[in-house]
Amino acid sequence: MKTFTLGNSNSQVLEMIYEKAIHKINLDDKTIALVRSGELFHAFQANCPHRGTSLFEGSLTKEGEIICPLHEYRFDMKTGEVKIGSCGNLEIYRTELTENGLKIYISAK
Ligand code: FES
Repeated sequence: MKTFTLGNSNSQVLEMIYEKAIHKINLDDKTIALVRSGELFHAFQANCPHRGTSLFEGSLTKEGEIICPLHEYRFDMKTGEVKIGSCGNLEIYRTELTENGLKIYISAK
């Protein structure tokens, strides 16, 4: 497990990562997607599990799903579960907002 920290404080993270957007975050040699919803953060793989399309051009729903721009499969950003479509689930990463920034936990493969 690798832990990454984004920003230096709780307030800096909330200022930097605005809502209703899919942020591209580079962590060492890995790029992930990050979406903020209030003080909750959803971190997940940057490419669709179906055919690998970049999810940065995807869209977000009020129900907390991301819709892939290519075939419009839908994934729950909290659990990674595929909601509409037939492919594997989205890989998600645990996050934790702390006084020292946003921790993102990436499990080793
Ligand atoms: S590539 Fe994402 S739904 Fe097909």
